[in-house]
Amino acid sequence: MTPAENSRVIVTPGIERLAAEGAELFQRTAVASVARTGLFTVAVSGGSTPRPMHRLLAEEPYRSSIPWKYTHMFWVDERLVPATDPDSNFGSAERDFLNQLTIPAGNIHPMSSRKPPAAAADDYEHELRRHFSRFSSAEPVFDLIVLGVGEDGHTASIFPGDYNAIETTRWVTVVKGGSPNVERLTLTLPVLNQARCIVYLISGSKKAVVVRSLLTDASAQLPPQRIAPQRGEIIWLLDTEAAELLPQDLPKCIRRRCIRKD
Ligand code: 6PG
Repeated sequence: MTPAENSRVIVTPGIERLAAEGAELFQRTAVASVARTGLFTVAVSGGSTPRPMHRLLAEEPYRSSIPWKYTHMFWVDERLVPATDPDSNFGSAERDFLNQLTIPAGNIHPMSSRKPPAAAADDYEHELRRHFSRFSSAEPVFDLIVLGVGEDGHTASIFPGDYNAIETTRWVTVVKGGSPNVERLTLTLPVLNQARCIVYLISGSKKAVVVRSLLTDASAQLPPQRIAPQRGEIIWLLDTEAAELLPQDLPKCIRRRCIRKD
């Protein structure tokens, strides 16, 4: 499976610059979405890489230039731990930026860890269906989904070889694995493949091998290689370390742009 058509690779010097490019892209997509439909529907990921970007979103100019009042915030995945737990993706987002912004409480849609996992997955699917029922297609078409990638090639909480999570037709499913090795909820391929824009934020030399596989080795069969939004684009936002093993001649369908240091 070749990398999705309509893919772009943007390489930035370092995690701070990666965060700034991510925040810029978040802001541009938010403004364009609200202009198009009146709302901006976004799903964010957990892990460490997006946190500098999340913190930037609570600072100027993003604090006042992003239409937070019309923004609906969902999660790509969640570790089923209390929001007060350091491993909670919702809890981290609250601490990093949400509790400093004026987003209407009804627009923030965390995955719940209070119910048994299967019931929590059902609830979140209903919440998604309720949100997207306001749009003509009622399909789960996110304006923006921000993803990370693990060294093993997982994304969201879809782990390599986990065929239940890979093949399901549900919008939200329960998995167990990763670090921390806990039960999790994750959005699935039927949802990820409807997005208007998928942005991967990937940083550090530890990710260089998997990044090269994802962008050059079709036989790797890793979960991100099953993500090819029909109507959307994919942006690989990499820092120079994560991109260090990429060959100059990437597959034709991928356009590359390197952001200089200055
Ligand atoms: C999670 C994430 C997961 C993450 C990757 C990369 O909840 O664990 O959503 O998919 O994006 O594991 O994590 P790092 O950014 O910490 O390397």
